[in-house]
Amino acid sequence: MAERLRYGMVGGSLNAFIGEVHRKAIAFDPRAELVAGCFSNIESENVETGEAYHIATDRVYADYMEMAKAEAARPDGIDFVCITTPNFLHYAIAKEFLMAGIHVVCEKPLCFKVEEAEELAALAAEKDLVFGVTYSYTGNTMTKVAKEMIAAGKIGKIVSVNAEYVQDWLLDELDEAHSGSDKNLSVWRTDPEFSGISNCVGDIGTHMENMIHYLTGMKIKRLAATTNSYGNALDLNANMLIEYDNGVNGAYWCSQVAAGHMNGLKVCIYGTEGSLEWEQHFPDYLRYTPRNGAPQTLSRGCGYIKEAAGACGRLPSGHPEGLYVAFANVYRNIISTILKKKAGQTPTAEELDFPTVIDGLNGVKFVHAVIESAKAGTKWVEL
Ligand SMILES: NC(=O)c1ccc[n+]([C@@H]2O[C@H](COP(=O)([O-])OP(=O)(O)OC[C@H]3O[C@@H](n4cnc5c(N)ncnc54)[C@H](O)[C@@H]3O)[C@@H](O)[C@H]2O)c1
Repeated sequence: MAERLRYGMVGGSLNAFIGEVHRKAIAFDPRAELVAGCFSNIESENVETGEAYHIATDRVYADYMEMAKAEAARPDGIDFVCITTPNFLHYAIAKEFLMAGIHVVCEKPLCFKVEEAEELAALAAEKDLVFGVTYSYTGNTMTKVAKEMIAAGKIGKIVSVNAEYVQDWLLDELDEAHSGSDKNLSVWRTDPEFSGISNCVGDIGTHMENMIHYLTGMKIKRLAATTNSYGNALDLNANMLIEYDNGVNGAYWCSQVAAGHMNGLKVCIYGTEGSLEWEQHFPDYLRYTPRNGAPQTLSRGCGYIKEAAGACGRLPSGHPEGLYVAFANVYRNIISTILKKKAGQTPTAEELDFPTVIDGLNGVKFVHAVIESAKAGTKWVEL
């Protein structure tokens, strides 16, 4: 019978946002099973989540340190842990599990400080452990198709990039009367103690940075930014001018106060021979315009998609996929890689196609550069 991995989760109690998405995404794959957790620092929520997922009571832990030690000591201990807590805990939890010899999948932004991210990357390398960071949008089939098209030269040499990630869920923070209103669990994002030096750039801006790097391979050399906090402790809006390592320029915008936008991640890559545009609200489609040709809307699952990445889809064309499948595609490759490592085999390039701790480190560097630049009056900051 095929081997099945065991995994545990820190964070992700029943009323949390992203932990549940991780569990559902992993459940697309029969090769991993949830067996342990420290789902909340609130005891009742922790116990309730363990019960809902039929976790043995001795594997529902009151704190993550106890969990790492106990799971590492069990012959049937977890193979990997998913960290889905607010940002301020990522570093300490990831370090604890790496030290215990357990593979890690962690939410973004990876951690608060560049030095912490470097330390985690070095530790994962030293211990030869897999470390995934869930920049989940790169799991969409059509973003993978776009990456392949760019690598194959379909849009020629890249000349310009434009990306945005815009939302409006923090519009109330512009208004003193409503500011801080506890409209959902996610308000910790506006508090530096839990979020770090940035809210908007860390929370959603990092997705743009990672996506453009994923699609094009270009790395940011330097950037100049403005941020707006509108009297709040952290940024709710940011604009960035980018210069990549190959001299190409780009522009990014992220906002949580852009009325009418929900999770508007949009990336546009312009080349000498055409352009590609992808939008997370319509993840199954890719707009491709060949030079001097009419714009085409390519659809996931259709026979004319010849790129190998087209096979990542789970459903026939016309049946919308989305965030769950994007996450599931990230996890499919992480699970394959861990299984290969356990078997002493080398993972294939396709299996290694998932965001790692190095992407997490790049994200933390990006956040620090944006905030530094904005604070210094939009000066250019090298990454
Ligand atoms: N990749 C993505 O697309 C994506 C989307 C949403 C959120 N995120 C990231 O996921 C993380 C969590 O975000 P969220 O919106 O799910 O937050 P949330 O507030 O909804 O959930 C946080 C969970 O962590 C638990 N928790 C807090 N302290 C804990 C502790 N000491 N031990 C164990 N559990 C603890 C809480 O009880 C809760 O269950 C953040 O870093 C966020 O940036 C990523």
